[in-house]
Amino acid sequence: MGLRNVKPKFNAGFSLFLSFALESCVDRLVITGGSSLKGRILVSGAKNAALPCIAAALLSPEPVLLSHLPAVSDIRTMLKVLEALGCSVVRVPDEDGLQYTATIQAADLEQGELKAPYELVKTMRASILVLGPLLARFGRATVSLPGGCAIGARPINLHLEALTRMGAHIEIIQGYVEAKVPGGRLQAIDHTFEKVSVGATENTMLAATLAEGTSILRNAALEPEIGDLAELLNKMGARITGMGTTTLTIQGVAALHGSAHATIPDRIEAGTHLCAVAIAGGDVVLERVRPDDLRSLIDLLERMGCLITERDGAEGRQLRVQRELSQKLRARDITTAPFPSFPTDLQAQAMAVMTQAHGISVIKETIFENRFQHAMELERLGANLRIDGSTAIVAGPAKLTGCTVMATDLRASATLVLAGLVAEGETTVDRIYHLDRGYAGLEKKLEGVGARIQRMGGGSV
Ligand code: EPZ
Repeated sequence: MGLRNVKPKFNAGFSLFLSFALESCVDRLVITGGSSLKGRILVSGAKNAALPCIAAALLSPEPVLLSHLPAVSDIRTMLKVLEALGCSVVRVPDEDGLQYTATIQAADLEQGELKAPYELVKTMRASILVLGPLLARFGRATVSLPGGCAIGARPINLHLEALTRMGAHIEIIQGYVEAKVPGGRLQAIDHTFEKVSVGATENTMLAATLAEGTSILRNAALEPEIGDLAELLNKMGARITGMGTTTLTIQGVAALHGSAHATIPDRIEAGTHLCAVAIAGGDVVLERVRPDDLRSLIDLLERMGCLITERDGAEGRQLRVQRELSQKLRARDITTAPFPSFPTDLQAQAMAVMTQAHGISVIKETIFENRFQHAMELERLGANLRIDGSTAIVAGPAKLTGCTVMATDLRASATLVLAGLVAEGETTVDRIYHLDRGYAGLEKKLEGVGARIQRMGGGSV
């Protein structure tokens, strides 16, 4: 075969490869509005429960088996951080590929650098949760400062304050947290967090399990993910009491052993599906949910005109959400605040629903300083809303018309998908790598109950 014959094939192949390569890194979702939703959705394990549970594996030299881990990029990144620290990680995907089980073993790390690198931490700020366990078990750690993100500055002062009070010597050197425990072992503290912080509560809990003495953590976060972490730690031999209250008591022990744990269902994913039915109409049963984790959203959607019922099913508790399109949605107000108040992680999704409600809805965002970026994109679709500092005023119902919109952060991307379900024509959501951080197969799950939605670009998590 002469060179001439080879060249055309090579060109065609190369350009095809190039187009795929370029396209695959710009995944987007295309949604055609107007379909109501009907069927069943299995909710995946909670990303925000799995992340601290993965960090907990650093506290023991024995294997920790975590199941129901969602196949999302934040979890993949956190497991990479542990591998970078020297842990062994064995992943076994579930049948549907939307979840997997990971066995993590943090053995023989003593001689390692114990450094969580910037390249990983900058993409997933919850990596800072390795700081507490590394200090508790090894007395040293180097963790990149996580930096801010689209929704806010995301400081870690509350984490560092508590760990310093436990006896850690912490310096910030060239963008890294350089921490050591001169006394060899962290000391228990009676500590009141100056503001409620999920991450600071988790980091301090992790550290206190191996500290000398009994710690008391006051004004601790109440999010369900805290309770899930405490359950895993107690299965590993920790002695934590007070779950479900704002005061946690942690009696330090000398060592923790391995264990197995199923991550709790993702309340934010489940809430996103409830909002999907509220905005698009239909009748959907969510399987493997914990209704008590969603009371504030359930209450809101019922007051807006949805019918939500609970029952037992094969996968545990189920939630059935129904909304007839003839049933007008009523405008309602929300204020985000720490659990059990309305969660900031469902604020954007609720805003999408409110664009279709009759009347004026007011949203007050009290947790993050910049969590209305989705509002501008909703306006491009035709939403009628105004932002005034930390308050959003939404007038409805507004006719939404499909167009190309851009995801700015994890929950904003979900919100644009919800709006696309009801917008006339096609809505293209760009930059859905934000979505892939926290939702496993959202488009597959929505398509499974009748949404007309497809992923273009062909990338995968
Ligand atoms: C967790 O973030 C969640 N992430 C967030 O979910 C969630 O929005 C947030 O809690 C609030 O519920 C994970 O669990 C991985 P915080 P976290 O510490 O721990 C301030 C998502 O979409 N603060 O409770 O970082 C902070 O700026 C993500 O899944 C300090 O001032 O949140 C914020 O205003 C987004 N100093 C408030 O406290 C600190 O040291 C609450 O933050 C820490 C926090």
